[in-house]
Amino acid sequence: MADVVVLGSYNLDLVATVPRFPAPGETLRATGLLRGHGGKGSNQAVAARRAGAATAFVGVLGADDAGAAARAMWQSEMIEALVSEHRDLPTGTALILVAPSGENQIVVVAGANEAVTAAEAARAAGAVRQGAVALAQLETPPAASLGFFTAARARGSSTLLNTAPAVAALPPALLAATDILVANEGEAGFLCAMPPATPPTRLGPLLAARAAKAAVITCGADGAWLFARDAAPVHQPAATVSVVDTTGAGDCFVGAFAAALARGAAPEEALADGVAAGSAACTRAGAIGSVPDRAAIAAMRTGLPPARSG
Ligand code: RIB
Repeated sequence: MADVVVLGSYNLDLVATVPRFPAPGETLRATGLLRGHGGKGSNQAVAARRAGAATAFVGVLGADDAGAAARAMWQSEMIEALVSEHRDLPTGTALILVAPSGENQIVVVAGANEAVTAAEAARAAGAVRQGAVALAQLETPPAASLGFFTAARARGSSTLLNTAPAVAALPPALLAATDILVANEGEAGFLCAMPPATPPTRLGPLLAARAAKAAVITCGADGAWLFARDAAPVHQPAATVSVVDTTGAGDCFVGAFAAALARGAAPEEALADGVAAGSAACTRAGAIGSVPDRAAIAAMRTGLPPARSG
C-alpha cells in the first residue's frame, strides 16, 4: 500500500519556448518545442515517489497514445497506477509557453481528467492505509476529491489539498475535509477574496481557519510559509538558484512536502523539503524532467537559509 495516494490529473504537456509572451492577436515564432509528461496530479505523484514515498496515482486517461505513454512513465517511476480509460474523451493536454525568465503561461484542455468520478474516488480510497497522505488538486472535479478525502480520513489518512489551479467555486465541504491546504500566493488571495499583493502573513491565518490543521502558502523565490492553527507561522526562505523553467515547481513542492509528512516528518521539516524540491525544479526544463530525487532535495536543503518564526 502507498504512503502517498494522489487523486488527480495527467496531461500531455506541449511546451513551446518563446522569446516573450505574445500579445492578444499576435502570432509569435517559438524557439523550441518539447513534449513531456505533465498534469498537476501526476507531477505531484512523481515528485512524491522520487522524494522516497511509495506512491499511487488515481485518475482517468483517454484511450490514446498519450494515455499509453503515461502508463509506461508511471511504470518506470514505480508508481502504482490505479487509472481507468475513458472511451470518448482524449487524455488531458496542456499548452505551455515558457519565457526566457523561466515564467510560464499554461492552458489546460481537461479531456478525460474531467471524468474523474466517485468511482475513481472509491478506487483511490482502496489504496489508502492508516497514516498515509491523501493528496488532491483542482484539475479534476472537486466532488471526486471530496469523496476521496472523506474515505481517506475514515481509513486514518491525513488529507492535503493543493488549490491549483484556482477555481471560483470551491465546495466548503471539500475544505472541511482538508487537513492541510497548500496554495500559491495568487490562489491564496483568490480564495480569500483579497487584492493582489496581499502579504502571506495576512492570508495565511484566513486560509488556516478554513482547513482542519494548517495552510501553506508558497511564494516562489521567497520560499514558503506554514500557518498551523496551533502554532506561530514559520517562513522557510528558498535557495538562490538560476531559474530555467518554473513549470512544475509548485508540484515538486507539494509532492516532496507530502512525502515528508508521510514518513512522519514534522510540518516544518516537510516545509523545508518542499521548498528545496521546488528550488531544484526551477533549475531544469520540463514538468517531470526537473523533479529532484531525495538526494538532490537533501543537497538543496544544505543551501537553504534557516526557517524563521513570523
Ligand atoms: O503545474 C504544472 C502543470 O500544470 C503542467 O504539467 C500542466 O500539465 C498543468 O497541469
